Amino acid sequence: MNAPPLARLAVLISGRGRNLMALHAAVADGRIPATIVAVISNRADAGGLHFAAEAGLPCFVLPHVDYSDRAAFDRALAETLRPLQADIVVLAGFMRILTESFVREFEGRMLNIHPSLLPRHKGLHTHASALRDGDAEHGATVHFVTPQLDGGPCVIQGKFTIGAHDDAAKLAERVMDEVELKIYPQAVAWMARGELRFEQGSAAFRGRPLPEPLSLDDLEPGFR
Ligand code: GRF
Repeated sequence: MNAPPLARLAVLISGRGRNLMALHAAVADGRIPATIVAVISNRADAGGLHFAAEAGLPCFVLPHVDYSDRAAFDRALAETLRPLQADIVVLAGFMRILTESFVREFEGRMLNIHPSLLPRHKGLHTHASALRDGDAEHGATVHFVTPQLDGGPCVIQGKFTIGAHDDAAKLAERVMDEVELKIYPQAVAWMARGELRFEQGSAAFRGRPLPEPLSLDDLEPGFR
């Protein structure tokens, strides 16, 4: 019997690309049954582009500053994505707010990772906000992207207890190392296998709507 075709991933970045690196590693060793068809950055100086180029991944740079407004940039982004026929559009530290028409075109096949326990701390400066509010726990969330900023259905959330000596920089590091680099490859693997879907506005996992996000306890051994 033939193996099912590999899912086509387009990974959108703006920064260092640590999530991209984790995704690439999981694709390379077969944990994610997919192929990365493009890495797209809105910044020419994104550190992740060096990694992508060295890894031989097709890179596209669309500097948002070259476009007159948000809608023009999003049209160019959609025109870049369309011919790639991506099954999954992975926002991996992609620091742009997307227009509704862009999101609608890719809704259901676009995931984002946000460095907080959504719905707490949407937007920027999540680590400082968690400290300011005296939160006991912090973490990160993978969610489907809908037109509502950081508001789409949650797939998986990883959390940890905030320590007495954690400042915003330490929290950023812990969120990345203890949570993001584990939950994002896992979520993309589930989606690439067809186990995770966007159905009627909700996240469905193995055929059932998720009543609450999955957690670190649900990670498969290869993703822990
Ligand atoms: C991550 O914390 C992500 O949640 C946030 O930006 C950071 C991206 O880092 N949106 P990287 O580019 O994957 O290293």
